[in-house]
Amino acid sequence: MKPAHLAIIMDGNGRWAEQRGLPRGSGHKEGAEAVRRVVRYARKSGVETLTLFAFSSLNWGRPSDEVADLMDLLLRFLDEEKQEMLDRDIRLTAIGERDYLPPAVRTALADVELATARCRTMTLVLAVSYDGRRDMVEAVRRLTDMACRGQLLPADVTEQQIMGALSTRRLPDVDLLVRTSGEQRLSGFLPLEACYAELYFVDKLWPDFEEADLDRAFETYAGRQRRFGLTPAQLDTQLATVPA
Ligand code: FPP
Repeated sequence: MKPAHLAIIMDGNGRWAEQRGLPRGSGHKEGAEAVRRVVRYARKSGVETLTLFAFSSLNWGRPSDEVADLMDLLLRFLDEEKQEMLDRDIRLTAIGERDYLPPAVRTALADVELATARCRTMTLVLAVSYDGRRDMVEAVRRLTDMACRGQLLPADVTEQQIMGALSTRRLPDVDLLVRTSGEQRLSGFLPLEACYAELYFVDKLWPDFEEADLDRAFETYAGRQRRFGLTPAQLDTQLATVPA
């Protein structure tokens, strides 16, 4: 079975460039090509939601020319892929602190989001200036604001309400989370949304990531038993009672 929601931490652009004696920006540029490949292949493979960690809130601390390169690539990607997304019926949406983004990136994001709003085959979510804890802070602010207005009592707070206050509220939980470059950590990416996700770490650097690597991740995912707290025997019983 394919993951309905695939999330990827695209790591290793800098090392890819450094290994070749190139500036880090070249690694990001090549990384953007990998983004195009993976978006196309994920859609073709039947992934319904693909969330890419394109820029962490912590990345604002990088040298200003690298930040500028990344913003420029994002802008170019939105501009060049807009028609492609429409042709392939891909809806684009973004999560993260939009207010921090350069106005041109904000405008381009809003433009592509609006243009692709009716696309249904796959949703591509770009996490830009995103950090899971910061998103949780925003969610708590929303809920406490409701409480202050008398619209929410402590006893009424549910899991659904908390998940519904996050920027990912319209997205399903993550099924498979992939990180490239050999690092094995989440770095603040979708902490609540991926809390039952299968994790898959691959040594390849992001610019080298290709279709066959995604296939391997899908195969591994298909071989995992997702028990959600139940025993294997209970799962077998459940499967046996599912109508054919
Ligand atoms: C991590 O590599 C990657 C990023 C910080 C940004 C990801 C951006 C892209 C793949 C390209 C632009 C995105 C889009 C959507 C067009 P790193 O720089 O941390 O690599 P390192 O760990 O080897 O230094």
